[in-house]
Amino acid sequence: MPPKKKAPAIHPFDTLHGTDTSGLIPGRTIVKGTGAKVEELTAYYGVAPSILSGLLDRWLRDLQPQAAIEQTVFLDVGAGKGRACLLASQYPFLRVEGVELNGPLADVARANMALWADDPEANALAPIELHHADATVHPVPAEATLAFLFHPFELPILRRFLRHIEASRTEHAAALDLIYANAEHDSLLDHHGAFERIWMGRVPMTPEDHVADLAAIAEQKEYGSTGDELCAIYRYVGRGGKTGGIVEQQGLKLVGRGSKKGS
Ligand SMILES: C[S@@+](CC[C@H](N)C(=O)[O-])C[C@H]1O[C@@H](n2cnc3c(N)ncnc32)[C@H](O)[C@@H]1O
Repeated sequence: MPPKKKAPAIHPFDTLHGTDTSGLIPGRTIVKGTGAKVEELTAYYGVAPSILSGLLDRWLRDLQPQAAIEQTVFLDVGAGKGRACLLASQYPFLRVEGVELNGPLADVARANMALWADDPEANALAPIELHHADATVHPVPAEATLAFLFHPFELPILRRFLRHIEASRTEHAAALDLIYANAEHDSLLDHHGAFERIWMGRVPMTPEDHVADLAAIAEQKEYGSTGDELCAIYRYVGRGGKTGGIVEQQGLKLVGRGSKKGS
């Protein structure tokens, strides 16, 4: 008898909500049909709920958002199957917008959002929109915006995305903050003339998320797990708007950071 295939690791978030946001899908798969270059993409991997809530709680509590959350759009740049969008909708944002390049992933995200809308456990406060589009050309919301990037792409696309944000902010004066989780290319933002880093630190996962992370990572060999994420939060200040100070940095050693997920 052939050996039984092991069931894929399902994150407890999906078990609770009946959604499909689990799994790690490599860049070589998500690139298909997108016109992107595989070496410029990372992978699909849903953010750990404890990482996103840790970041949103810090942003709200310590970083003096420039607009009320009720007037701010949460923009998930590279929404994948939509886990970050669903989680962000539990906060009272004006709305949550996800932008996803890969068509089949965008379809899964939409199906998840339909399930979420009928889920009494969802506790959703904000409406969600999902756009199947390239985030480097799709319009950035004109309202105050909190962009969320869970290491969605490599430097060439990140550069294009930052140029796109700058162009949008010359048209609209509304505030924009950017959360960068698994901040592989933090130095691009740190040295960018129009962004100021307002926080950086390692955000720990809950034990539940860590167990799920290890199970998902064990299914493949390309990516490793750290159990926490190096994250940074930036504020768009415009050219010449820098105050010259990193506002907060949590006891970090910035050299020899060790291996990270390439998600
Ligand atoms: C690490 S996943 C993040 C998933 C989601 N943000 C979350 O945290 O649950 C990165 C996603 O970015 C998408 N992506 C890559 N380049 C993109 C682009 N130019 N525009 C929109 N999405 C992109 C990938 O297809 C992938 O689904």
